Amino acid sequence: MPEALYDEIAAWYDASVRGGSLLTDLALHSLLELIGDAADRQICDLACGQGLVARELARRGARVTGIDLSAKLLEIARRDEANEPLGISYQRDDAQALATIGGVQFDGVACNLALMDIPDLAACLRSAARVVRPGGWFVFSITHPCFQTPSSGWRSDDADGPGRIVRGYFVEGHWRSDNPDGVRGRVGAYHRTLGTYLNTLADAGFALERLIEPQITGVLAERMPDHHEVPVLLAVRARRVRAAGDAV
Ligand SMILES: C[S@@+](CC[C@H](N)C(=O)[O-])C[C@H]1O[C@@H](n2cnc3c(N)ncnc32)[C@H](O)[C@@H]1O
Repeated sequence: MPEALYDEIAAWYDASVRGGSLLTDLALHSLLELIGDAADRQICDLACGQGLVARELARRGARVTGIDLSAKLLEIARRDEANEPLGISYQRDDAQALATIGGVQFDGVACNLALMDIPDLAACLRSAARVVRPGGWFVFSITHPCFQTPSSGWRSDDADGPGRIVRGYFVEGHWRSDNPDGVRGRVGAYHRTLGTYLNTLADAGFALERLIEPQITGVLAERMPDHHEVPVLLAVRARRVRAAGDAV
């Protein structure tokens, strides 16, 4: 098993998610919109962390299996499940292999804000394709790969209005934010181009169905006008059209 970086920051990460954040709210809302009706569906929450998405899907009537690498976050997820049972089962596994899952088990796989944490995207998407039924779905959210690049930043002082300067888009690989108070300053992230995400999805046997780039509006937009101009998040729904490795 790879090293579980979130073990080190599990308590901090759990508190930050429970405290609520713009990114968490936008991601959860977009993900649930793309999943649609979850009632009676067998769903895998891949890289589930402490179970934020798993619990929301279970409340909507899904039968959920949560999978994560971090034993510490799974401990928190299981504690929540014990306090308020929703029928979720949690397993420790590497999303790049899913060795604990023998075959096709799910109507859908959801993966919230975690593909940036996983080094081998192709292996992860092939694993997801292996465990989801033909015609089933894969829904994920990521920080927007076109704008959240390693060398980008907000510009609020520009004469033309708020916006974002993007550099280094084509430089893929691991990077660490210089904000020590954020997740990406603590564990880093893998940057990939949009093309890499969508082509790897297609190679794994998924066809793109829909995507959301949520725009911040209303009171939040008044408080954060730059976030109104540029999306911070991308959420994607894809359908499994063939098994990974089959001819196109
Ligand atoms: C930013 S957190 C997101 C957690 C959760 N999906 C949420 O919405 O709060 C990223 C998660 O990916 C998990 N992770 C990283 N690499 C993984 C891997 N190879 N297999 C499974 N989980 C992994 C981490 O342990 C962590 O829980």
